[in-house]
Amino acid sequence: QSLKSSNTFAIDVNARYFAEINSIADLHELLNSTQIRTEALLIVGGGSNILFTKDFDGLVVKMNIHGIEVKESRDDVFVNAGAGVKWHDLVLFCVKHDFAGIENLSLIPGTVGASPIQNIGAYGVELKDVFYSCEAIDIATGDIRTFFYEDCRFGYRESVFKNEYKGKYVITSVCYRLSKVPNLNIQYGAIAAELKARGILEPTITDISTVVSAIRVSKLPDPSTIGNAGSFFKNPVIDEASFVPVLDAFPDVVHYPAGQGLVKLAAGWLIEACGFKGMVSGHTGTWKNQALVLVNHGGATGAEVYNFSETIIETVQAKFGIRLEREVNIL
Ligand code: EPU
Repeated sequence: QSLKSSNTFAIDVNARYFAEINSIADLHELLNSTQIRTEALLIVGGGSNILFTKDFDGLVVKMNIHGIEVKESRDDVFVNAGAGVKWHDLVLFCVKHDFAGIENLSLIPGTVGASPIQNIGAYGVELKDVFYSCEAIDIATGDIRTFFYEDCRFGYRESVFKNEYKGKYVITSVCYRLSKVPNLNIQYGAIAAELKARGILEPTITDISTVVSAIRVSKLPDPSTIGNAGSFFKNPVIDEASFVPVLDAFPDVVHYPAGQGLVKLAAGWLIEACGFKGMVSGHTGTWKNQALVLVNHGGATGAEVYNFSETIIETVQAKFGIRLEREVNIL
C-alpha cells in the first residue's frame, strides 16, 4: 500500500499492511489478531509530522475515529473529540460555538489524536494550555487508560507520548477545557500587527482565527500543493552562558527568554543566516518565506530530504556552535 497520500511530505513509500480504524472496537479487534501482534506498528493521523526515509515493513494504522461531544459548565466547556477529527475542523467548530482557547492554533495540519503527542503550539498558545485529558489504548494489553495533564509532562514540542510511552499507547480521543469567556492571546507580534492592519480594535475569537490563518497561509507552504511537514526543526533552547558568545558575534540574532536562565533562538533565523532560505537542492529545499520548513518540490525521496536537513544542521553548527534538533519524526 502506498503511503504517499498518508504523509503531508508526499514521500512515495509503501507499507506492508495498512488498516483504517473507525472505532475503539475496530482497534481492539486489530490488536487482538495474532498475525498483527508480531508486526511493527505505526499509528498515523494526518501524517503531518513524519518523514519516511524508507518503506515501512509493518502495519500502518490510520486513525479515523470521529465525533465531537460538548459538556458545558458555568464558564467552561469540555470538548471531547475523536482522535481522527481533523484539528482545524475542531478549531472551526469551537470558534463557531464561541468556545475560546484554540483559535490561535488555527490551520495547524494534523488530527486531534496527534495534538498532545508533540504539544502542538503556535502564536503564543500551546495545546497544554487547554488540555484536560485523553483516552488511550495500551497496545500490549488492550486496556483503556485516561491521561490527565500531569501524566503527560508537556514541554515545548514534548510529552510522555514522544518519550517513555512512545509506541506503547494509541490515543483514541482528547478532551479540551475551553472557555465561554474569551481570554484572548494577542501578544504575538504578527497577530497584533495583522489586527492593526485590518483596523480591528476589539477582536473576537473569529477574528483571531481569521488573522492566524492568514499569517500561516502567507508564511507556510500548503501541503496539498507542496509537500512539507511544517517546522522541520525545533527552535533551540540553550542556557544564557552559551548564548553570550553567540550574541556577541551576532548581535541581531532573534531570541526570546525561555525562563530558568534559558534562551530560545529562532531556528528559522539561524538557517536563513546560513544562506539556506528558499534554497532548492535537487527535489527538496527550504521554503522561500520560512527557512525552518523543508519542502518536497516533487519527487523527493525521504533520504534526499534527510540528507539536506543534515547539511543544514552541520552548517548551523559550524557557524553558531548550536546543534538543531529535528522536530519531525524520521522513519
Ligand atoms: N525567522 C527568520 N527567517 C525565517 C524564519 C523565521 O529570520 O526564514 C525569524 C523571524 O525573526 C521571526 C522569527 O524567526 O520573527 C520567528 O518566526 P515565526 O514567527 O515564523 O515562528 P517560528 O519560531 O519559526 C514557531 C513554530 C511554528 C509556529 C510559529 C508561530 C516551532 C518549531 N515552530 O515557528 O510551528 O507556527 O512559531 O507560533 O516551534 C510547526 O511546529 O510545524 C510550526 C509551524
